[in-house]
Amino acid sequence: GTTLGTSAAEKGRYFGAAVAAGRLGDSTYAGILDREFNAITPENEMKWDATEPNQGQFRWTGGDQIVAHAQAHGQKVRGHTLTWHAQQPGWAQNMSGSALRNAMVNHITQVATHYKGKVFAWDVVNEAFADGGSGGRRDSNLQRTGNDWIEVAFRTARAADPGAKLCYNDYNTDGINAKSTGIYNMVRDFKSRGVPIDCVGFQSHLGNSVSGDYQANLQRFADLGVDVQITELDIAGSNQANNYATVVRSCLAVSRCTGITVWGIRDSDSWRTGENPLLFTASGAKKAAYTSTLNALNAG
Ligand code: G3I
Repeated sequence: GTTLGTSAAEKGRYFGAAVAAGRLGDSTYAGILDREFNAITPENEMKWDATEPNQGQFRWTGGDQIVAHAQAHGQKVRGHTLTWHAQQPGWAQNMSGSALRNAMVNHITQVATHYKGKVFAWDVVNEAFADGGSGGRRDSNLQRTGNDWIEVAFRTARAADPGAKLCYNDYNTDGINAKSTGIYNMVRDFKSRGVPIDCVGFQSHLGNSVSGDYQANLQRFADLGVDVQITELDIAGSNQANNYATVVRSCLAVSRCTGITVWGIRDSDSWRTGENPLLFTASGAKKAAYTSTLNALNAG
């Protein structure tokens, strides 16, 4: 293929980008998006603070705008994210106990129902595990409602949209370490008990090296019977082009790695200000990392 999306499609995969609704009117941005990418993740527009700014009052504007763009351009949409400790609306941030649990369940039900049939996958739960060596859960208001909050979130999402793939998504899980092993154990437990989980997202906000067991880590999750996806890829550092190729080759080597999403289009669109971690320059030119990514998608 001659674009990221067509090349990935030839390998049975998608190649997506995180998109901000507010940038869709920028013709350089939209031009690259629609030429290169066949999947979209809303960068912020489907998060709790965006979709339910006041309890029980839902706002679909930004998310709907992105879905409409995607439908008009043949791109699939990855929903992000139904629950997270961050970007909660103010009213939820200080809630606790059964009131918060009920609010979470209602939020998941309403959002997954609104976007039913329009998103192919949901990040049902984002970043619920702690960094460091514990392998345990991150403390948060959601975690304090009870350790079963994650499986309740997945069961609620399944009931609302039985057709969507339901994913767990996290960062610093890009190799075999205490955090990724904690998640692995949760997924294994969910599969053994019939808790509905279909996929695991590896954000892959990377520095100047890719873990030597990056592919092996994807594979061990796939071997549990879930799909895996690279969900928020961006890579800083001087070895950027090689590292992008390594990530692409790792995904292609794992048959259940179904797609790759980069977390933005141009360096100037990135949340990592000053790190230039993406595939296009601020003016929209293809970087060396773009070429190495495309070549890796087309190899073999
Ligand atoms: O929308 C408000 C705007 O009204 C206000 O004027 C402005 C002033 O600061 O802020 C705007 O909100 C910002 C929002 O992005 C939309 O631009 C928030 O401050 C800012 O914190 C928010 O950052 C997002 C971040 O998640 C929040 O944690 C980034 O764009 C987004 O790229 C980032 O994405 C996360 C993934 O969801 C999960 N994984 C990590 C990844 C990177 O942090």
